[in-house]
Amino acid sequence: MRRRMIFKLGVTVVIAVAVIIVYIQHTDPDLQHQGEDEVKDKLVVERKQVDGVQKESIDGADKEHMTSNKDSEPLKKSENIPESDKHHGIEKSNGNQSHSEDSVVNKKINGKTKGLKAVYSSSQFAPKDSIHLSVVACGDRTPESLILLKSAVLFTSKHLVFHIFAETQLQKGFRDQLDFWPADFLSKVDYFIYDISFPSGGKTDHWKELFKPCASQRLFLPTLLTDVDALIYVDTDILFLSPLEGIWSFFQLFNSTQLAALAPEHEDAAAGWYNRFARHPYYGNLGLNSGVMLMNLTRLRESVWLPSLIEYYKEYKLKIAWGDQDLINIYFHYFPEQLYVFGCDWNYRADHCMYMSVCRAAETNGAYILHGSRRVFLNDKQPAFKAVYDAFKEHRLGDDIQYKLLVQIERNLEGTIKSSCGQHGHIYTKQVQIYSNHMREAEKKAREKMKDKKPPHPPR
Ligand SMILES: *[C@@H]1O[C@H](CO)[C@@H](O)[C@H](O)[C@H]1NC(C)=O
Ligand SMILES: *[C@@H]1O[C@H](CO)[C@@H](O)[C@H](O)[C@H]1NC(C)=O
Repeated sequence: MRRRMIFKLGVTVVIAVAVIIVYIQHTDPDLQHQGEDEVKDKLVVERKQVDGVQKESIDGADKEHMTSNKDSEPLKKSENIPESDKHHGIEKSNGNQSHSEDSVVNKKINGKTKGLKAVYSSSQFAPKDSIHLSVVACGDRTPESLILLKSAVLFTSKHLVFHIFAETQLQKGFRDQLDFWPADFLSKVDYFIYDISFPSGGKTDHWKELFKPCASQRLFLPTLLTDVDALIYVDTDILFLSPLEGIWSFFQLFNSTQLAALAPEHEDAAAGWYNRFARHPYYGNLGLNSGVMLMNLTRLRESVWLPSLIEYYKEYKLKIAWGDQDLINIYFHYFPEQLYVFGCDWNYRADHCMYMSVCRAAETNGAYILHGSRRVFLNDKQPAFKAVYDAFKEHRLGDDIQYKLLVQIERNLEGTIKSSCGQHGHIYTKQVQIYSNHMREAEKKAREKMKDKKPPHPPR
């Protein structure tokens, strides 16, 4: 009797143990092998990602009817990344850059090593007065980023340094394309490719719990690129229609308190997003658009930039619709004396023409920089923007700008005259025309100089 009971008990225990083992094997294998803290980290991150999606879809729905400018893609994009890569990306932000043999420190710039190490760097010497340009590419943003970089090198005569932050699986694509550029363009460029990263070390680790990596990368540039004095940050949906020397020259106009420069989000209060809908503080009357941003990293490092942003994030995270752009707006609401504001012609968007033309400066000067927010370079909502983008996409570096690029832009624009943004076609062509005239003048002068130098024909 007693033996039978012990036997039954034994069988029960064996079955229970078996059930437990089976259960453990079927739970997330990742979770088993991590410490409790890591598990917690992962859950926090995952929950944040889920929160992001929900917010995205709620906000995205009504934003579509309003005149929002900011493309919230970076938030969405992280959802398309396979789980393994996501985790990989988060690990990376711990600062374990393990690409030792491939790693090149930014030492060519001034020999220091404490900043973020590049995964790859083209091996050239960047002169001190180079123009630095930074872009963050995640998800499917590689093609447009490359066209953006092409537009930058096309018109600019100073040496350029690209700081490209890209998800691991995109990095090779950048190298393959950039290294394929014609030598006379490639020789004007230095480029660094970095993992999407957070600053490493001690108590800063919690940043990775607060921010989604891709959407917030630019906020950390001052802390990561410790050897860089200043740079132009652009979203991937940007096209330069003029030399970068133009926008870069605003740095010289900064007074002693200014450390960044941006364009307003809107020109027109009736169509403004922030003034009508924002539930958090923002800059000025109509807010700021963050698609094109001059950042004096030296000054940002000396300021309260990062600690403030973290505080604002904690305070307003449930009221923020456009991620990092909103945080930047909150910051300059409290520190307006630190901001230099440039005009809408330096960040020209479909919002400036979709109802009526509201950017006077662009009507006069043409757009210096075009911003295809809400994917208008790729979809058919604003055919004029797509027309310009397509012409840059087709253009090959080295082909004639006047007779190939400009002609192509004009031809593509012909079909868009009836659309709201196609009515003022010169906005998209004027700066390219000015550049091309300027280059032809310069060439003519150079030819004349050569002629003068030639010895006269000997008399017969
Ligand atoms: C950025 O600020 C620092 C410190 O004020 C200054 O030395 C540097 O020239 C500035 N950089 C640019 C590009 O204006
Ligand atoms: C710099 O310019 C900003 C914007 O006009 C202004 O608010 C700030 O007071 C200026 N700083 C100094 C030191 O003049």
